[in-house]
Order: sequence, then C-alpha cells, then structure tokens
Amino acid sequence: MVSFPELRLRRLRGQEPLRNMVRETRLSAAEFVYPMFVTHGEGVRDAIEPMPGCFQLSLDQLTEEVGEVASLGIPAVLLFGLPAEKDPVGSEGYDPEGIIQEAIRSIKRTTPGMMVITDVCMCEYTDHGHCGIIENGIVDNDKTLELLARTAVTHAQAGADMIAPSAMMDGQVWAIRQALNDTGYTDLPIMGYAAKYASAFYGPFRVAAGSTPQFGDRRSYQMDPANARMAMREIEADIAEGADIVMVKPAMAYLDVIRRAKDRFDYPLAAYNVSGEYSMIKAASRQGWIDGKNATMELLTGIKRAGADIILTYHAKEVAQWLREIE
Ligand code: PBG
Repeated sequence: MVSFPELRLRRLRGQEPLRNMVRETRLSAAEFVYPMFVTHGEGVRDAIEPMPGCFQLSLDQLTEEVGEVASLGIPAVLLFGLPAEKDPVGSEGYDPEGIIQEAIRSIKRTTPGMMVITDVCMCEYTDHGHCGIIENGIVDNDKTLELLARTAVTHAQAGADMIAPSAMMDGQVWAIRQALNDTGYTDLPIMGYAAKYASAFYGPFRVAAGSTPQFGDRRSYQMDPANARMAMREIEADIAEGADIVMVKPAMAYLDVIRRAKDRFDYPLAAYNVSGEYSMIKAASRQGWIDGKNATMELLTGIKRAGADIILTYHAKEVAQWLREIE
C-alpha cells in the first residue's frame, strides 16, 4: 500500500489537461431529454414563472423551439399538454385531435429527426387534478388503465417515438404494452416512470401544467420518499410488464436509488431532474447566492455519476450550449 509521503493525490489535480484526462464522468447532450409544455392557441409563449427559461408554447412556437433544441444536439423532447378543457375523465388526453397528438404531428412535420417522447398521465386533463379516474373518492386503478392505454395508442398513431407512462397505476406498463401490440406498434419502446416518488419538488411543474390535485394528494399512488427497497420492486414490476427503459424520479434527493437501480438492473436507466430542482438553482443563482452554471453542471454530473444513462432535465438547452463552449 502506497501512502503519504509517496502518495500525493494532488499530483493529478495540478493542471487542467490532466484533470480532464482523469475525469471519470462526462456529460453529453446526447443523453438529455428536454421536457416541454404545449398549449392551445397561436403565437403563445407564456413564461412559467417559477421555471425561468421555460414556457407554455402554442404549436407554432413549439416547433420553432424544437428546431433550436435539435440544433443544440439534444436528441429528444418530452411533451406535456395543457388541454382546452378539463373534465372528470380527462377526455382531451386520449382525443386523437388533442393538443399532444397535434404537437407530435407538428414536430414530426417540421423536425422529423427529433425523438418525441410522450408523458402518459391524466393529471393535466382531469378537473380534479388526479392521475386517474375517481371512483368513490379514490383513484380507481383498473379503470384508469384502460384510458392510459387509449392515450398511448393515440400518441403512437400521431407518430410518437416512445411512450412514458407516469400515472403510477399498477399494471400501467402492461396495459400500454398490450394496447400497443394489439394496434401494431410492437416496436414502439416504453420508458416506465418506475420509481416515481410523491415529491414536493413537483411543485413548479404543477404551476406549469395546471395539474395540482383539487383534493388530497398523490400519496396513495406515488411512492413514499422513505422507501428505496420498494423502488427496486417498482422497477422490477415495470420490467416484468415490458418496460424497455426504467426511471427514477426525482433525481437530486434520490441519488442512492439511482445507484441501487444501476447496480441491480441491466436496463437503461433514466433519471428525471424535476421542476423543483430546477427552480431552486434558478432562484438561488438569481439572488447571487450560488453560481448557477457551476451548480447545474455539478448536479447533472452527480446524477450521471450515480448511474443515470439518460437525464430528463429543464437545463438541457443551457447545458448543451455550455458543453459546446468547453469543446
Ligand atoms: C404527471 C407528471 C408530473 C411530473 C411529470 N409527470 C407531475 C406529478 O406527478 O405531480 C413532474 C415533473 C416535474 O416536476 O418536473 N403525473
């Protein structure tokens, strides 16, 4: 065993080229997914206050911005929709002419090379804001499955490249896989929001998507933040049901879960760096309390070091830009 004074770990830190050479983790735009919010109308570009740099975009604005995302080398976007009207059964979610279905078609027309991933959930479309159908005051798992499956098929028909179910209903990946297979989409991949926690860090997203539950909370379907073993069972279940990629969400407070999942499963692993994580960095850096760029790079590097192969992040555009400046 070599130790001090022979061993001096600082030798590898003395100069930038050497630090670069021994760096173990490198970010790349090729592993980013950029989440976007689509709304009805024309020429709409409404700033999302708690998420500086993010907007609710109408189709014309969306396609313009997707072009920019592509030019930064980001391969994929994740779409969230704001319906014209919300109702108890979230009808616009599975309307073949709904906002997301139109958005997929528009992007495929204007930037065909961009991968379009769709979030499949009901909370943006229901007037009560829950992720499924309400029966006797609770979210009914199996009735919800049918509608999630219908939603996924309309996304596939519109041209989506990957389906990402996020409602946290038991059997949602299975229901969607069956429905896609039955309609001829056997080759369309599913990215399961496998370990999705009931998190306060979704707060800004719910402002962006107008999806705050009107009663209660999501703790009867999203996971308890205290549980890591349960996350392994959720991931196992998604894989058994046919998920091609699995996800841990949020990222920052769940790096241990990302690492455990990486060590345990030989499946591509995604991590969702969620809205509240983004807002915290933006707010603190606007106050001059942290260096926003360095904090962002450090956080995303940490998520990758923990084991994420794919990072869903609202920072994707700025980080892709910074990575270009480094090169
Ligand atoms: C839909 C969904 C949510 C997020 C992604 N998909 C909100 C929620 O579960 O309340 C959160 C994303 C974020 O905070 O950035 N259910």
